[in-house]
Amino acid sequence: MKWLGQCPGCEEWNTLAEEVVESISKAVPKTRSLTQFSSEVVLLERLSSQKEIRTPVGLSEMDRLMGGGLVPGQVVLLAGPPGIGKSTLMLQIADKMSGARDSGLGASKKPVSSLQPPGSVLYVSGEESLSQVSSRAKRLGVSRGALYLLCETDLSKIIDAIHKVQPSMVILDSIQTVYHPELTGSPGSVGQVRECAAELLRICKSRETILFLLGHVTKEGALAGPKVLEHIVDTVLYFETERQHLLRVLRAHKNRFGPTSEIGIFEMGEKGLQEIADVSQFFVAREGQAAKSGRSLSVSVEGTRPLLTEIQALVTPTRYALPRRMVTGFDLNRTQLLLASMEKHLKVHWDNRDVFVNLAGGMRLKDPALDLGICAALVSSFREVPVPADTIYLGEVGLLGDVGRIPFLNIRLKEAARVGFKKAVVPAHSSKETVGVGIEVLPVENLMDAFSHLMKKLKGEEG
Ligand SMILES: Nc1ncnc2c1ncn2[C@@H]1O[C@H](COP(=O)(O)OP(=O)(O)OP(=O)(O)O)[C@@H](O)[C@H]1O
Ligand SMILES: [Mg+2]
Repeated sequence: MKWLGQCPGCEEWNTLAEEVVESISKAVPKTRSLTQFSSEVVLLERLSSQKEIRTPVGLSEMDRLMGGGLVPGQVVLLAGPPGIGKSTLMLQIADKMSGARDSGLGASKKPVSSLQPPGSVLYVSGEESLSQVSSRAKRLGVSRGALYLLCETDLSKIIDAIHKVQPSMVILDSIQTVYHPELTGSPGSVGQVRECAAELLRICKSRETILFLLGHVTKEGALAGPKVLEHIVDTVLYFETERQHLLRVLRAHKNRFGPTSEIGIFEMGEKGLQEIADVSQFFVAREGQAAKSGRSLSVSVEGTRPLLTEIQALVTPTRYALPRRMVTGFDLNRTQLLLASMEKHLKVHWDNRDVFVNLAGGMRLKDPALDLGICAALVSSFREVPVPADTIYLGEVGLLGDVGRIPFLNIRLKEAARVGFKKAVVPAHSSKETVGVGIEVLPVENLMDAFSHLMKKLKGEEG
C-alpha cells in the first residue's frame, strides 16, 4: 500500500477516487440465488403465442413514452437534476396505479396484511420523512388507492417490506440514498448503488413487480453512480428542462419495451405536474400578440408527434471583433451553417452582427425541418420585417441555398392547419404530401424563393 497523487495510467493529478474493497461473496445469503427465474429451456414459438400484458400508467404522456404501458417486471430508472419534480411525478404515477385497484375486483376491502391484488404500490422514500411525503400527497390530491409509504434506507428492510406488502409496483426515491447492510461503502458510492440496484432488480424481476428507481444527475448531466446502472435496467428516463420555469420534458434514453424517440411534456403547478398533450395549443395561447420581427413558426416532429415550435431570432450590430453567435435549443453548428448559406445565397451579411437564436418554451430540438423557420426568423430580425403571422415555414436548408424535402410533411401540415395556420412555405416537389391538408402551400425551391418578399422590401427601401 502506498500513497498516490498521480494516476499511473493517464498521468493526471488528483484524479484517483477512494473505493472501498467490498467483499460480498462470503456474505451472500441463500435468498440471492437466481433459481427463482425459470431455467427451463422453452421453444420461442410457444412463448410468442402468449399475449403481451401492458399496464397503462394512466398519464397519457408517460404511456406514449412507454410504448403503451409498463410491462410486468419492468425496471425503470428515472433520472433528473434536483428539484425538477421526480418525486412529484412518481407520486402522481403511484396514485394512478394504486387507484386502478378500486375499479378492479372490489378487492380493496381486503386487509392490508394479506396478499395484495395487482395495483398496490409501495413508495419507499429515503430522502423525505413520512409527514413530508404525505403533505406533498395532500397538495397533489393523492388519496385513494393502495399506496403504501415507507421511509427507509436500509435495503434489507426495504426487501422485507416488499415481501410483506407484495406490491405490484415499487418506487425507490432515490437509489443514491439506500445502502446494502453488508457493504461498507457509504450510500451513493459506486458499489452501494450497483449492488442495491442489482438486488432489487433480482427481486422485482422474479416477482414480476414493476420497479421505479429515482436517480440524481450530477452537475455535468451524467447519472450519479455507475454507468452500469443504465445497462442493467430496462428503461432509462431523463426528466429535464432548459429553463426551470416552463416546460419539463421526459425523454426515454433507453427503452427495451418501447420507442426512445418519443417525449412527454409536463408543466409544474401547485397541483403537481400537468400533462401538456397539446403543446401546439400551449404556444398558440400566446399567439394573440402582433407579429414581431424575428419570430417565426415551424412544426417539428418528435417521435410520431408534431410540435408547433416558435423560433425567435435577434440580430444586432456587434461591439466585438468576433461577432457573437448564441443558440438555445438548437444546434449551434447547424445555425452557423444556415447563416453561411444565407450570406452566400441571399446576400445578407452577418459579419458585423451578433446573432441570437432561441426555441421558445425551453425545447431542445434537432429536427432539420426547422431550418427554414430559423432562416425566416433571422432574415426577419435582420430586415426588421415581421414574417406573416399566418404562415408556417417547413424545410431543410442545404449549403447550396436549396430548400430540401423533409419527412412527415403531411403530419406537420395537418398540425399547422389544426392550430389555425393559413399558409405554409414548403419544399418544392412534395405535392403528393400536401393534398387535402386544408392549408395553402407555397412550394419553394431555394432561399431566394422563400424570402423574396422579405428581401424585396430592402430593394424598395433602397430605391
Ligand atoms: N406549492 C407548490 N406550488 C407549485 N410548485 C411547487 C410547489 N411545491 C413544490 N413545487 C415544485 O415542485 C418542485 C420539486 O418537486 P420534487 O420534490 O418532486 O422534485 P425532485 O426532483 O424530487 O427533487 P429532489 O431531487 O430534491 O428530490 C419544485 O421545484 C417546485 O417547482
Ligand atoms: Mg425528490
